[in-house]
Amino acid sequence: MTQLKPILSHLDSIPSTPGKFKPEKSFSYFYRLRLHSKLTLWSFIFIVAIVFFVLISPPSPAPETTRRSLQMAGKNTGSDWENRVRASGRSKTGRVVLVTGAAGFVGAHVSAALKRRGDGVVGLDNFNKYYEIALKESRKLLLEKDGVFVVKGDINDGVLLRKLFETVSFTHVMHLAAQAGVRYAMKNPSSYIQSNIAGFVNLLEVCKSSNPQPAVIWASSSSVYGLNSKVPFSEKDRTDQPASLYAATKKAGEEIAHSYNHIYGLSLTGLRFFTVYGPWGRPDMAYFFFTKNILKGKSITIFEGVDHGTVARDFTYIDDVVKGCVAALDTAKKSTGSGGKKNGAAQFRIFNLGNTSPVPVSKLVSILEKHLKVKAKKKVVTMPRNGDVPFTHANISLASKELGYKPTTDLEAGLKKFVKWYLNYYDSKKKHASW
Ligand SMILES: NC(=O)c1ccc[n+]([C@@H]2O[C@H](COP(=O)([O-])OP(=O)(O)OC[C@H]3O[C@@H](n4cnc5c(N)ncnc54)[C@H](O)[C@@H]3O)[C@@H](O)[C@H]2O)c1
Ligand SMILES: *[C@@H]1O[C@H](CO)[C@@H](O)[C@H](O)[C@H]1NC(C)=O
Repeated sequence: MTQLKPILSHLDSIPSTPGKFKPEKSFSYFYRLRLHSKLTLWSFIFIVAIVFFVLISPPSPAPETTRRSLQMAGKNTGSDWENRVRASGRSKTGRVVLVTGAAGFVGAHVSAALKRRGDGVVGLDNFNKYYEIALKESRKLLLEKDGVFVVKGDINDGVLLRKLFETVSFTHVMHLAAQAGVRYAMKNPSSYIQSNIAGFVNLLEVCKSSNPQPAVIWASSSSVYGLNSKVPFSEKDRTDQPASLYAATKKAGEEIAHSYNHIYGLSLTGLRFFTVYGPWGRPDMAYFFFTKNILKGKSITIFEGVDHGTVARDFTYIDDVVKGCVAALDTAKKSTGSGGKKNGAAQFRIFNLGNTSPVPVSKLVSILEKHLKVKAKKKVVTMPRNGDVPFTHANISLASKELGYKPTTDLEAGLKKFVKWYLNYYDSKKKHASW
């Protein structure tokens, strides 16, 4: 037991989100108590009191959940909070969707699209510090104007998730919360495990136990194709050679999804996004920080493959991805289970959502230079082996057949919209913040 305790308390303080690492106070001095040490009257009374309270207290859930829930006490609770959640979940279509990662890039756009057509939408996001929180807050404010409430909380918080499911009856879960980014996994590997694996399992546990079970649509990634050299990438191609921990956690997610589908009858659709970009995008992605640095007159580092090989990406415009997400939701069949029991086979799908036209990074830069009307200071280096793959190229014929998915925005047109948003947002923040 004394062996276990310190290990558990260590696990307990693994950050589920970067920058949120708060080491727990060490209780090790308790272990140093020896029977022969003098117990004063007061310490005796103290111990009796603790034993008494432990005995009368109700059984408690996992310590982590308790700690997090306590942190939020007074925030994600109360009738005012419940009313906001209910109002946000009010639906004109019968569809009520929990969108995780709703303050994120894709999550914000998908939430807005669903709400605009009349679906009930409740957002959930932990607003972690992986990139500027201000951007997440701005997306949240925009969503609020559209009538979407984004609850601040973590997908690892089972108490909060169950409370959301008790407050609103979700027909669908659009799970877009994750620790994204390939290179950051070398800095903070545990955040990937915590959000993409532990958090996903926690969410699926609540989904499978809820009655009725929602259909779940979630974001995997093109990175699962890893070191694959067969192009274009098709859903049936091998995905057992991940090149990064991020990719490995997304691949794990696909397998975990399969097991929940198999055991509990949860309807599960995984979407492999290919380098999504656009207005309100992610500051950690190349097109975004290239723009920032070009405008600042700072040099940008462009990767090339071994022997000057081309590094190319199948850039996919956000509006196209949103259409794919919405179509996946609309074609999702109901889960078959109820209250944790399977009642027959349920739908299990995986789709590529890409653009089918890889563009070399050098071309990306020249388009940015054109739209920004600034010449970039370029530094070309060989791509380090830190998780990135040299190219991605989606075969989207499956999504096209089953979802009617058809991307319509090319990189030139998409970046034009991105640059327009960027200049507007960072020039006159808040004044003209709009989609
Ligand atoms: N943008 C892309 O190019 C791309 C490509 C492939 C896959 N994806 C996947 O698509 C999804 C959305 O990506 P995005 O680009 O919008 O990223 P994003 O980082 O902008 O959005 C993710 C959001 O989830 C939140 N989040 C993270 N961990 C959480 C947790 N434990 N609990 C609650 N909220 C949490 C973050 O605060 C963030 O707002 C992710 O699953 C990502 O892995 C994105
Ligand atoms: C694309 O995927 C489909 C299956 O969805 C497959 O039949 C087709 O052969 C693939 N095309 C290429 C060029 O790999």
